[in-house]
Amino acid sequence: MKKYASLKSIASYVPSRCVKNSDFEEILDTSDEWIRKRTGIQTRYFASDDENSSDLGARAAKLALERSGLDVQDIDLVIVATLSPDYLGMPSSACLLSAKLGIRNKPAFDISAACSGFIYLLSLAKSFIESGAYENILIVGAEKVSSVLDFKDRSTCVLFGDGAGAAVIGTTSEKNKSILDVHISSDGTYYDYLLTPRSLKESKFLQEKFAPQYLQMKGNETFKLAVKTLTSDVKEIMKKNNIFSKDIDFFIPHQANLRIISAVGEQLKFSSEQVVVTVEKYGNTSAASIPMAMNDIYENGRLNGGDLMLLDAFGGGLTWGSALLYFGA
Ligand code: COA
Repeated sequence: MKKYASLKSIASYVPSRCVKNSDFEEILDTSDEWIRKRTGIQTRYFASDDENSSDLGARAAKLALERSGLDVQDIDLVIVATLSPDYLGMPSSACLLSAKLGIRNKPAFDISAACSGFIYLLSLAKSFIESGAYENILIVGAEKVSSVLDFKDRSTCVLFGDGAGAAVIGTTSEKNKSILDVHISSDGTYYDYLLTPRSLKESKFLQEKFAPQYLQMKGNETFKLAVKTLTSDVKEIMKKNNIFSKDIDFFIPHQANLRIISAVGEQLKFSSEQVVVTVEKYGNTSAASIPMAMNDIYENGRLNGGDLMLLDAFGGGLTWGSALLYFGA
């Protein structure tokens, strides 16, 4: 019998410190009105000094495991997507998270696909499971984006938040409980649209004096390309799978900017009930944004086993991707 990959459970963790738009008015030339109008964001949450991405991820992962009904020893592989790892280079946040959960002697690694991280994770997990390599995989988008923000740059620091989302990907023999299709892509010629510099040449800050490697973004250019790419990518995956907008229970886009979400949602003719929006609460939590949004509809009782979801994301790299999947719980 054919084995399909299936998203068995979803969970998230939101750090406790809520930061309102008005908090930025005290340190920057900005306003609650500008941020709401241009982005839709009202609040975001920042991790405390002693919480790192692996801590946020471990909290979400523990709950996802509980919800899946599996034990830590059932997990064959742990993969974390993050642009804000605990350590630069090594050890991976996936190794640290595994240790925090008590998962030992199993493979664990991080991937770097910025805000598209969760779609890349789904693609990897689906391939590993359907090739027969593994049975149960823990995938986690975990971000302490606040650790790479420049709080003097009003055009970036107001946009992002911290958080984590986790899912257990297992197997099913039922196609209508499976991950139907995942599409991922990239174009590195746009590498400088969003970056966290390490080389002097790329950094206006390092050129001035030594400073941490803050996130930089060409906001307006990224915005335009995001709308165009997301719309065409979603159209392609729907066409390939012969799925129409009306067939989708929930369209869960990456939560970067309400104006991007609305533009894409309108072009694809999704109703407001179908489009999941959490950017107003959490801001852009990068690789954690899609699983956090999915967890919100799960915890609100809206997402049920067998519901069909369409996910799409766009981020630094540039990377992008989309996924069509049933909730396999
Ligand atoms: N408060 C007040 N003014 C601000 C501001 C802030 N927080 N941030 C930028 N501005 C100003 C700019 O300095 C600029 O002023 P100027 O005209 O005097 O130069 C003006 O607002 C317009 O800036 P612009 O960048 O053209 O605005 P925008 O409409 O493109 O909105 C973003 C800016 C960042 C909100 C928007 O471009 C965006 O969301 N981009 C994509 C984000 C994204 O998707 N990123 C991640 C992909 S994962």
